[in-house]
Amino acid sequence: MAIQWFPGHMHLTKKAISERIKEIDVVIELLDARLPGSSANPMLAELTSRRPALKVINKQDLADPARTALWLAHYNALPNTRAIELDASETAPARRLIQAARELAPLRGGMVKPMRVLICGIPNVGKSTLINTLTGKRAAKTGDEAGITKAEQRISLADDFYLYDTPGMLWPRIIVAKSGYNLAASGAIGRNAFDEEEVALELLDYLLQNYPALLQARYKVELTDGITDEQLLEAIGRKRGAVLPRGKVNLQKAAEIVIHEFRAATLGRITLETPEEFAQWLAAGQLIDAERQVKKDGLENQRLIRLKKIPRPPRAAS
Ligand code: G4P
Repeated sequence: MAIQWFPGHMHLTKKAISERIKEIDVVIELLDARLPGSSANPMLAELTSRRPALKVINKQDLADPARTALWLAHYNALPNTRAIELDASETAPARRLIQAARELAPLRGGMVKPMRVLICGIPNVGKSTLINTLTGKRAAKTGDEAGITKAEQRISLADDFYLYDTPGMLWPRIIVAKSGYNLAASGAIGRNAFDEEEVALELLDYLLQNYPALLQARYKVELTDGITDEQLLEAIGRKRGAVLPRGKVNLQKAAEIVIHEFRAATLGRITLETPEEFAQWLAAGQLIDAERQVKKDGLENQRLIRLKKIPRPPRAAS
C-alpha cells in the first residue's frame, strides 16, 4: 500500500466533540460526493452517541449525478438519518440545511429549545467553504494542519438554530486500501503521503471498468480489449507529450495529469464508489482487521504461556 498515512493527533477533535455533544441535537457530517463512503469517519457515530445524522454530500458538482442519487437513497434509508446534496455554487444553502435538520429533531425549535447542530468533516471536504457561505464571510482557513488549534465557532443560522464547528481535524480512518487510494485521488491526503503513479493506476483501473467513455473522450486513446491500467497510463503520457529524452514515457508526469484532471472534473463527473461497492470493501477490510486481531491475540497468548514457563528465581533466605 503506497499511502504513508500519518493522520496526526485527533485527540483535540475527539475531546471537543465529546464535550459539545451533550448539547447537540443533530450532527452534520460533510462527505465528498465522489467518495462518500471513504470520506466518512467511522468513529463519528460513536463519538456523537448516535445522535440524528444529516449527511451533506458535498461537491456534488464534481460527482456522477446517478451515483449521488444512489448515495442519497442509501443514507435516507438509514434510521435517524437524512441526506442532502450540495455544492459551493449554492449561495444560500442555509434554508435546505435548516429544513433537513429540523426534520431530524422535530421537538427542537423556538427560542426556549433552539436547535443545536454540530458540523464535522474530514479535511478538504469543503467545510470552510460551506461555513463561509453560511456566514457570508471570506474568513481565512485555519486549522488544516494537525495540531493547530482553532476556537469553536457558533454560527446562528436562524433565531433558534445554532451551528457549532469544533476545533481540530477529523481525519478519515482508512479501513480498506481502496479508500486510501480514493482519498488520495480526491486530494484529501497530502501529496507527500502517497505515490502518484500507484494512485493514478488504481484510478485508471476503476475508470476503465466504470467510465470507459469518459476516458476515451478525454484522452482519445484506443481502449482495446484487455488494455491494462499500465498500458493506459503510458498511452496517456505519450498523447500528452510526457516523454523523457530517450522516448520513454514520464509516468510520474502522466500520473499527475490523470489525478489533476480527475480532481478538476475535466475528465467528467465521476464517483469512485457506490454504496454496494463500499459495503463490500468495508466487509473485506473488517475481516482483515478481525484476522489481524486474532493473530495478535494468539501471539499475546503465546507470550503469556512463555512467561508462565520461566521458572521463578528462588527466594532469598531471610
Ligand atoms: P475544508 O475546510 O473542509 O478543509 O475544505 P475547504 O472548504 O477549504 O475546501 C477545499 C477545496 O474544495 C477548496 O478548493 C474549495 O474551493 C473546494 N470546494 C469546496 N466545496 C466545493 C464544492 O461544492 N464544489 C467544488 N467543485 N469545490 C469545492 P481550493 O481552495 O482550490 O483548494 P484545493 O483544491 O487547492 O485543495
